[in-house]
Amino acid sequence: MRKPIIAANWKMHKTVKEANDFLQEFIPLVEGNNDVDIVLCVPFTVLDAVSKKIADTNITLGAQNVYCQDKGAFTGEVAPQMLLEFGTKYVIIGHSERRAVFGETDELIKEKVNKALQSGLIPILCVGETLEEREKGFTEAKCRKQIEAVFHGLTKDQAAQIVIAYEPIWAIGTGKTASSSDAEQTISYIRSLLSGIFDEDTALKVRIQYGGSVKPENVQDLMAQPNIDGALVGGASLDPQSFAKIVNYKE
Ligand code: 13P
Repeated sequence: MRKPIIAANWKMHKTVKEANDFLQEFIPLVEGNNDVDIVLCVPFTVLDAVSKKIADTNITLGAQNVYCQDKGAFTGEVAPQMLLEFGTKYVIIGHSERRAVFGETDELIKEKVNKALQSGLIPILCVGETLEEREKGFTEAKCRKQIEAVFHGLTKDQAAQIVIAYEPIWAIGTGKTASSSDAEQTISYIRSLLSGIFDEDTALKVRIQYGGSVKPENVQDLMAQPNIDGALVGGASLDPQSFAKIVNYKE
């Protein structure tokens, strides 16, 4: 059985004070929810404060990026060990904003995933198509390219640890959600790709999230789909009440 994983991606939001205020309100709202893995992927600058505040809670720490080297002359980058020092467990890799704004390629993303796995961090690997690609019928081809680039060459055990977030780019921050059946269709296609690269047993172990305008109003429908194992939430994760409603979608 795959345990659902609901993760916040705060992107470039929240100072230490704002993060502490969020947690003050959020922690009691999700206390006792052990049905879901609750993850906060926060900016590097608040990892320390958030890790202290969530110690001994049911909330797990995540980051939004990591570099593919252990140390060295890489100005502005952050190494796996620097994240692990704060108890970080998950790291988002290959978000569409990193790909589009910062020019990250599939090759770099593969290196980052490899380094994260070797270091003991769990990658949340983002894939997804643009509106133009969707309209041209290229959704599956795009996801296939992004998945194959990373998963080829991994062992089954490594593959099974990775969390995939299917995030159609046209649904990110736009208020437009993929319908739960469209999301399910692409996510089940992604699972079939994993089955082809590895085997069915491995494919059934991988948790695949949906991301793109997830809100309290649509989370239940999405989570009711058999292949959707969670959500990666941007805008609606910034407010403690709305993110708690998403996390507590079963209630
Ligand atoms: P929104 O939930 O704001 O659409 O963002 C989705 C996202 O990019 C999460 O990584």
